[in-house]
Amino acid sequence: MELIALCLIINSLCVASRLAVKPQMETSANTEAIGWNSWNTFKTNFNQSTIEDTASTLVSTGLARAGYNYVVLDEGWQALTRDSHGRQQPNATKFPSGISYLADYVHRLGLKLGIYSDAGIYDCGFYPGSYGFEEVDADTYATWGVDYLKYDNCGGFYANTVSPQERFLTMSYALKNTGRDIFYSLCQWGNQFPWFWADQFSDSYRMSGDIKSSFNSDSSGVCKTAYCLNTGYAGVSVLTMIRKMREISAFQAPGSWADMDMLEIGTGTMTEFEERTHFSFWAALKSPLIIGADITKISSTSLAILLNKEVIAISQDDAGIAPTFLPNISVEGSVQVWAGPLSSQNSKCVILALNYGNNSTDITIPWGQIPTLQNFKSAQLKIRDVWAEQNLKTTGMEIKLLNVSSHQTKLLVLSAIQR
Ligand code: GAL
Repeated sequence: MELIALCLIINSLCVASRLAVKPQMETSANTEAIGWNSWNTFKTNFNQSTIEDTASTLVSTGLARAGYNYVVLDEGWQALTRDSHGRQQPNATKFPSGISYLADYVHRLGLKLGIYSDAGIYDCGFYPGSYGFEEVDADTYATWGVDYLKYDNCGGFYANTVSPQERFLTMSYALKNTGRDIFYSLCQWGNQFPWFWADQFSDSYRMSGDIKSSFNSDSSGVCKTAYCLNTGYAGVSVLTMIRKMREISAFQAPGSWADMDMLEIGTGTMTEFEERTHFSFWAALKSPLIIGADITKISSTSLAILLNKEVIAISQDDAGIAPTFLPNISVEGSVQVWAGPLSSQNSKCVILALNYGNNSTDITIPWGQIPTLQNFKSAQLKIRDVWAEQNLKTTGMEIKLLNVSSHQTKLLVLSAIQR
């Protein structure tokens, strides 16, 4: 019995993640990063020049330097059939120079290449999935120089009784066996509650159906909590994605990140306050930061949001802990306050105060209600209003935020003052 238990432990250590010490977008050498994914803007209509242009724009805009260093080809890169050796192959019209050419291209720019496949016989668009071909496909990706795999589950419906966990695990072993560090990102839309098991063999996992480019309007069939599953093709608004994280944020941990799906910043559907709210929550809640917009056409306002160094620092904080929702100082339907610990340098805590009602409002946050802060006197803390780029005055036992606009988030970082 003991031997079996030991084997199981060793096995799980072998497949556990080594790559994702921080949510995807890290700039330091020992972690992996994320930048951009083709799906939200281009669907399957992208090609070699789309990827070349995006990669060079990541560099020229400063996004790469800020940490966005993966370029991920979502569904649509593949040919409809495998080659005569059973290998997946790129669509030759769209990718005439092949995938290893693209990997070299992005590597020369200091970036990394991501690719997409599916744990079923087919993927969502009936391109060949990897079910039954895991070893072959993992080897193919490694040979091409791929650094990241987004692994979907559309075709899982055709894999009969083999559970998603078993199919995802098979690919995890196949990736490890290649000897190449390939970030493993699961896409199973939160079905079967991956926050309970995905840490065993992946670096990140989607916690919900697809995001919709809208601040607060969901598609039909979307439900609000993490344990209520969407039906049909989910179009989950930014606000609902944040709502679902109330149940999941406590599971965020280095090596296993709940992925709130791609950022819709720069897609032209949100106000500046809404885009800042979107970025604040994705960063603070430790979601991967994956740009979904066409960055060759992005506005300077949206670009500045994505480049905000202080917000990125919150995402990449050493503690890797996500804030929790604080119901006692929130007002359902109008104000939500979240807070959680930070540990980089002197930063102690991040607070998000979102006005999601229709009118401006004041928000009062008593110190005593913030876990981890009860023992600090206000004089010992510096309060940084991140988006306003200024320090706030402390007033007695509470923080008072005046006139917070509709859909605005006040993002505060509290640091201990060095004496
Ligand atoms: C969905 C996935 C999307 C995108 C799409 C491709 O299952 O959630 O992010 O990858 O498949 O068809």
